[in-house]
Amino acid sequence: MKLGTPLTASATKVMLLGSGELGKEVIIALQRFGVEVIAVDRYANAPGHQVAHRAYTIDMTDAEVLKALVASEKPHFIVPEIEALNTDALADIENSGTATVIPTVRAVQLTMNREGIRRLAAEELKLPVSPYAFARSEAELQAAIDGGIGYPCFIKPTMSSSGKGQSRITQASEVKAAWDYAATGGRVNQGVVIVEGQIDFDYEITLLTVRAKNAQGETQTYFCEPIGHVQKNGDYVESWQPQAMTANALKASQHIAKTITDSLGGFGLFGVELFVKNDHVWFSEVSPRPHDTGMVTMCSQRLSEFELHARAILGLPVDVTMTQTGASAVIYGGVDSQNLSYEGLEAALSVPNSDIRLFGKPESFARRRMGVALATGKDSDEARNRAKLAASLVKPAER
Ligand SMILES: Nc1ncnc2c1ncn2[C@@H]1O[C@H](COP(=O)(O)OP(=O)(O)OP(=O)(O)O)[C@@H](O)[C@H]1O
Ligand SMILES: [Mg+2]
Repeated sequence: MKLGTPLTASATKVMLLGSGELGKEVIIALQRFGVEVIAVDRYANAPGHQVAHRAYTIDMTDAEVLKALVASEKPHFIVPEIEALNTDALADIENSGTATVIPTVRAVQLTMNREGIRRLAAEELKLPVSPYAFARSEAELQAAIDGGIGYPCFIKPTMSSSGKGQSRITQASEVKAAWDYAATGGRVNQGVVIVEGQIDFDYEITLLTVRAKNAQGETQTYFCEPIGHVQKNGDYVESWQPQAMTANALKASQHIAKTITDSLGGFGLFGVELFVKNDHVWFSEVSPRPHDTGMVTMCSQRLSEFELHARAILGLPVDVTMTQTGASAVIYGGVDSQNLSYEGLEAALSVPNSDIRLFGKPESFARRRMGVALATGKDSDEARNRAKLAASLVKPAER
């Protein structure tokens, strides 16, 4: 393994497809190794654009546009940060042998569609999951619920993330609205929804799982300490590490994470989402990339999830040591604005052991994630209270 010098013929080049707040941190981690980074997003001045060597604004669902950019930039590694990509183009690029897609094209293809990853996890790998069915019409949806899924249940577009198009319903009168919302709320309107029976979990976790080369050059799987989180409307609002678990639940979680990531293959960090009740664990979904709830690792681990991803991509050894109990709390825009400023940073950063990240997104919406507060503490309650307090003291407004 060797690393070159950026902006010379020897450069090791990485292209990020999607350059939001998670991509931005991966880019910073790569920059620290002297990697040449090309940041791509669908809009100008995305967070990662601002810290890369070069920035492009393109439609990443357009195969020709994507292939042309890769042909001109010739990256060694292509690192997807989002799901809305033309994966056929990625397959062509990988087959032509010019670049490695992280972790693998198959992993990117399977995880961008809830149907692909659910069938792999449940039907092929026999992992425990919620009861589920796919429906292509409102009538099929109603039949699936009546045929055994029952209420309450979750209805989600097969192609969506961050809770978009997703609803939880408790009775038959809500089915039509849930169908309409899912059928229009998906990323690419496929007209296919998944309906999942509700798992009555005690808590849910993200188990960050890293596939990396060890010192002997063999592929090894590493697990970070479990991350607990709270979701509102399918979007995360706070997270903490570690989440206390029984030994059996942790063992079952690691087994599920190892099974699914072994199957997806390649190198990189994965966010495995799991539901836990006592010693029982259900697989929910997996991101083949850093996870939003994993932002807490910027204060709780020796190497953040972004640094772990960068190392794993480059074939370097990783260290998943948690150094302190930590928490993260999301800072929302609060208003729709293209000219936002932030006040209250003095107060926020006066909270003991706290830190703030502002992503620098050019446009704010009321419910858009614009930053995150981080804090450590003697236990997760103290860390959570500090992170929430720090987040609440940051005051975004158009001024
Ligand atoms: N079957 C289920 N049983 C219980 N809770 C569920 C179920 N499905 C979803 N949820 C709740 O909704 C949240 C979001 O669901 P899911 O992760 O499938 O959506 P998403 O749009 O992919 O969200 P993200 O992209 O933020 O991970 C879960 O973290 C969980 O809190
Ligand atoms: Mg999720």
